Amino acid sequence: YTITVEEGATGPAIDDTMYGVFYEDINNAADGGLHAELVRNRSFEFNGADRAGWTGTTGWELVDGGGAAPPALVVDDDTRLNERNRNHFRLVADGAGDGVRNTGSGSGVALKAGATYDFSVWARTSTAQTMTVALQGPGGRALGTAAVAVDGSDEWKQYRATLTASGTTAAGRLVLTAGAASVVGLDMVSLMPTDRWVGKNGVSPLRKDLAQKIADLEPGFVRFPGGCIVNVGSMYSYDAENGYPRARSYQWKDTVGPVEERPTNANFWGYNQSYGIGYYEYFTFAEDIGAMPLPVVPALVTGCGQNRATDDPELLQRHIQDTLDLVEFANGGVDTEWGGLRAEMGHPEPFGLTHIGVGNEENLPREFGRNFLQFEAAIKAKYPDMVVISNSGPDDEGATFDAHWDFNRANDVDMVDEHYYNSPAWFLQNNDRYDSYDREGPEVFLGEYASLDNRWQNSLAEAAYMTGLERNADVVKLASYAPLLADVDSAQWRPDMIWFDGQRSWGSTSYEVQKLFMTNVGDEVVPSAATGAVVEPKPITGGVGLSTWATTAAYDDVRVTTPGGGTLLADDFSDGDAAGWERLAGGTWSVEDGRYVQSDVRAENTLVRSGDITATDYDISLTATKTAG
Ligand code: AHR
Repeated sequence: YTITVEEGATGPAIDDTMYGVFYEDINNAADGGLHAELVRNRSFEFNGADRAGWTGTTGWELVDGGGAAPPALVVDDDTRLNERNRNHFRLVADGAGDGVRNTGSGSGVALKAGATYDFSVWARTSTAQTMTVALQGPGGRALGTAAVAVDGSDEWKQYRATLTASGTTAAGRLVLTAGAASVVGLDMVSLMPTDRWVGKNGVSPLRKDLAQKIADLEPGFVRFPGGCIVNVGSMYSYDAENGYPRARSYQWKDTVGPVEERPTNANFWGYNQSYGIGYYEYFTFAEDIGAMPLPVVPALVTGCGQNRATDDPELLQRHIQDTLDLVEFANGGVDTEWGGLRAEMGHPEPFGLTHIGVGNEENLPREFGRNFLQFEAAIKAKYPDMVVISNSGPDDEGATFDAHWDFNRANDVDMVDEHYYNSPAWFLQNNDRYDSYDREGPEVFLGEYASLDNRWQNSLAEAAYMTGLERNADVVKLASYAPLLADVDSAQWRPDMIWFDGQRSWGSTSYEVQKLFMTNVGDEVVPSAATGAVVEPKPITGGVGLSTWATTAAYDDVRVTTPGGGTLLADDFSDGDAAGWERLAGGTWSVEDGRYVQSDVRAENTLVRSGDITATDYDISLTATKTAG
């Protein structure tokens, strides 16, 4: 085929920030992932109320140095380290050698021969002693040890040591033992590789290989800290009497200040978040890699499968104030309350926040609109130049989507966050999605999208789609694939861009596509036209009979398979026409070996075709099986 470029023609300018990343704390993206912490449940805050079977000692084992084993004693009383991180472990040792052993995340504490590790612990005891911290491999093999001299002041103090691992293992352990018969309070037990991400903001608590993979993308922006974790649970807040309710949404104030004072949280995705990396770390990391920070805050209308909006005006005002405080944290002078905290944490210069998202996939357009306008008015009153991003709800089409867009247009919002996850065929067929978007209307932030698998054909479809985003760079101002990170042993969502375990990380084919686009952002679109043997991504029409069979009722299992996914349509061939195609009855969709399978189909005398696969992609097959007898 031939691509023709019209001489002298100019298209829309492409902003340097066009392609970015969406960092979401899902799939253990933070603890066990980007957060370089190797100790699981380092502050003994896991709780059975969050997940059956969890306790304050989840991730810990007791070490018996002789005599009686120490009891599993997690306490929440007046001797706590601080109000926000309330539990600590009380080690009652009847002699030297009693202690605790941490089993790490995933298969264990990942250790590498020759690497050094920064250990720290907050301890409180009235018995001065030399505690021992040790690295162990499988079977208790000694891989490194250090002495920790603890004073007998009975005050909480932080103690540090450096350890060098003498062996490599994915299943290591960290052991901390008393040096004498004593009672020792332990909290915030931490072990991190010394070799972590270092940027212009210095040494960070970020795991180096993962941070580097993100940096290598050269993203224009970093959206954080998540999708569903932002809005679900936003109705819950700190209660002076009962402390923090479980499973509240990600609220930025929980995640800043000294790490030992940050509370933990039960995450929407079913695991515990330490907040060892929080808003300060995300802002500094974004700055390190030259990306625009783009936080998203809850609008107090839950989405993500829930339909709830707050009816508490005080709570709404509290969140609006939190959002104003967030802008102050990012941009305020060092003499302001929150700008002062930023300076205390090591960054007196402002972060230069220009965009903020309000809400994530809110299900209820009316309630979302009501709340959004209050956030927007408050933000614009104080920070008139701030770009306040609205959203289009959970769907990419349909009544909720339309209602959100009606609201967004009527109120002339700055920008609208759209999310969708679809088949590769959908991405090929919808390359022109934004060609018809109103140039006078709000701009688009495509905050989450992915083709539904991590195979080459998915990334190819994404690449094709991104040419459509780029062609519409006057409307689509920002775009980020989602989600960014996934623990191969514990993922709640797939596909994902970067995968990891305790020792390794690797990019998917979608990562390579994103990298290709992000590291080659043009200045402006050059209008072009393609002619010749271009395969048009159009639906098959005209009743292509791909497979037939007589009476499916005679079979136990009928499976229809297509490499393209999409909607399979069926028609009763015995009526002699190819009209009246209907969605194939029954069955459930799954992906097997890269092919989309609708199994357990129930239909009779049926022609099958796909409703939205491309012309190159209609290799549909059908198998029918019958068990003996
Ligand atoms: O990226 C995974 C989830 O997809 C996000 O949390 C949510 O915003 C969307 O539904």
